[in-house]
Amino acid sequence: MWKNKFHISPPFGLLNDPNGLIFWNNEYHIFYQWNPNACEHASKHWAHLKSKNLVDWESLPIALSPNDWFDKNGCYSGSAIEKDNKLYLFYTGNVKNNNVRESYQCLAISTNGIDFEKKGPVIHDKDIPKEYTKHFRDPKVFIKDGVYKMVLGAQRVDLTGTIVVFSSHNLIDWSFEQEIINGNFGFMCECPDFIEDKKNKALILSPQGIKADGDLFNNRYQSGYIIRDLYDIEKNDFIELDRGFEFYAPQTFKDENNKNVLIGWIGMPEELEHPSIEKENWVHSLTIPRVLEIKKNKIFQKPHNNLKKLRKEKIVMENIYLENTIDLSKYNILGDAYELIISLGDFSKDIEIDLRKNGNERTTFSFDSIKKKASLNRNFSGYGYKGIRKCYLKDLKKIHIFVDKCSVEIFLNDGEEVFTGNIYPNKDSLGIEIRSKMLFTIPKIEFYKF
Ligand code: FRU
Repeated sequence: MWKNKFHISPPFGLLNDPNGLIFWNNEYHIFYQWNPNACEHASKHWAHLKSKNLVDWESLPIALSPNDWFDKNGCYSGSAIEKDNKLYLFYTGNVKNNNVRESYQCLAISTNGIDFEKKGPVIHDKDIPKEYTKHFRDPKVFIKDGVYKMVLGAQRVDLTGTIVVFSSHNLIDWSFEQEIINGNFGFMCECPDFIEDKKNKALILSPQGIKADGDLFNNRYQSGYIIRDLYDIEKNDFIELDRGFEFYAPQTFKDENNKNVLIGWIGMPEELEHPSIEKENWVHSLTIPRVLEIKKNKIFQKPHNNLKKLRKEKIVMENIYLENTIDLSKYNILGDAYELIISLGDFSKDIEIDLRKNGNERTTFSFDSIKKKASLNRNFSGYGYKGIRKCYLKDLKKIHIFVDKCSVEIFLNDGEEVFTGNIYPNKDSLGIEIRSKMLFTIPKIEFYKF
């Protein structure tokens, strides 16, 4: 009852990070960390899907399995890049002998986009500079100023997290360049990434061990970015990418229009009390693809335009006078897989929106125009983890919601802030209700059933 309709989820077992995202030979490829054997963090394979439009996905055979000496305890996260019409995958081979960790940065190549030939390590465990522990992983490879760069998550020997860069001219021979983090980013930084457009640049990272600070950093681990160029090591202003409950290890790729697009994992390391495990033998999903734009020193995330292909039934309501409460189910606006866009006009108003509602069960998004706080409350969502997440928002003009069987993604003001999380409601909890203490007219509500 919770298997998502339009979010990528595993057929069974555990999904974590998105890997190897690429538009190659006119098709999008997505890989993800997959344990096909159990809903636990072990035996990581690379599951593989492809699509012509980022909406209809075809499952392909497993791309990488942990069956070689250099990856026997897991084909960990990594990325994809094209060279000479071939698809190159870089990933971390995780090895444990007598519980002692070794990390190998490995290469696998495909000519047909289906079968991958492992070439083994391009950076050996013994080549890890002595300043770092064996927590050295998640290669993201890209071209900068005509040279291949690989950013890697790393841990210094004093057990603090950092990111390092290697470079190469041929994708085979790699040499260590430098460390590119100077601030305090906990005990480990995972899954680094780097994006640039004509004007702006941002380093993306998933640090572990940043302390909660008011509304900020309340999840076990964070994913966010620093607006800066790759080597601007003094810049440490870290902004969370998502304000919800589960969002981690995102990766970016360029779509066919050369836009930076991001997909993240709707999940959190070490948190495995999800009811889908016991009831349905699977856990976790990937976010929808989000187009990134850097504006005003901030990354904005917008649902990818191609998602419009999911839209089936459409209901539009205009100039809706909101006197206390509107039960949208009365207008046939309800469900467990849909898109809902609420345009609020120019002046911020207090608003509460219950999703997946039935009786007392509900997941509530709200905005307080005096305190200037947006929040997502899943204390009454049904099964699974509970809690409230909040963030500062100066004003609220537009709410763009994607609800799926066990997840919700809420985009505010065209991606200025995003709240993502898992919810596990009962299957009859389909209602949508809008409330406000203020009297006002909502200019437009658009609803699309998927
Ligand atoms: C992030 C992560 C990565 C690692 C992978 C293993 O969630 O811990 O650092 O490569 O998951 O599945």
